Amino acid sequence: MLYLVGIGLADEKDITVKGLEIVRKCDKVYLENYTSKLQCSYEDLERFYMKKITLANRETSEQGVDKIISEAKDKDVAFLIIGDPFSATTHSMIFKEAKEKGVKVQVINNASILTAIGKVGLELYKYGKTTSIPFPENIANLETPYLVYQQNLDMGLHTLFLLDLHPQEREFMTINEALDILKKIEEEKENELITDETIVIGCARLGSEDFKIKSGKFKDVRLEDFGYPPYCLIIPGKMHFVEEEMVDLWN
Ligand SMILES: C[S@@+](CC[C@H](N)C(=O)[O-])C[C@H]1O[C@@H](n2cnc3c(N)ncnc32)[C@H](O)[C@@H]1O
Repeated sequence: MLYLVGIGLADEKDITVKGLEIVRKCDKVYLENYTSKLQCSYEDLERFYMKKITLANRETSEQGVDKIISEAKDKDVAFLIIGDPFSATTHSMIFKEAKEKGVKVQVINNASILTAIGKVGLELYKYGKTTSIPFPENIANLETPYLVYQQNLDMGLHTLFLLDLHPQEREFMTINEALDILKKIEEEKENELITDETIVIGCARLGSEDFKIKSGKFKDVRLEDFGYPPYCLIIPGKMHFVEEEMVDLWN
């Protein structure tokens, strides 16, 4: 059996009881550690789960999927994913290939960044398309995040921006950098969709005890220090007055 286990957002204790029971009985445990970041080390996970963990970087996960799936033919294999297995990540490939090869797969859900942002106070069902802001050196002049924001705004919807990261190299795009990238696109487009007065919300380490949420004008949030990663950014669309009151709590 192949188990795709969401391990939550913060630390070793965020795994569900069901997930932990499964991990403990598995013959092999992999951790996908390149699409997000926990607030603990993988050694902390090993200690709490009482299991040896093999780190699966992008290469292992994307090209070594066959190996993991063939191991799961006659063993119990857990593939751990930070957050939730299918939320804002591309793990449908491993699920699909396992199914096609006749390997049984079970998914253990957990909290995700896509639900943890509920704390900010904007209704989750009023978010439009989620978008990612890549490091400029990877994709220069990419306008997609701005265009997605524009489309969402046209419909009055909120926008969640996920920020690029290379956890193995300890590189994490900061909220300040993300705001600068959006401002640069705005300056080229001159649509005045993002100005110094635009209300934005920066979030760091959601789901952990020392999370940080800061809402306010672009020009003020731009100067804020958010501490350790991971980070995301939200720009509200049309807000109900209750949403406005909630967002103001993070001023
Ligand atoms: C590709 S998504 C992975 C999502 C993960 N599977 C989940 O369900 O949460 C990773 C991005 O989400 C954002 N993110 C993830 N966890 C976060 C957290 N705890 N606080 C703030 N942003 C977070 C960051 O922008 C990060 O680059």
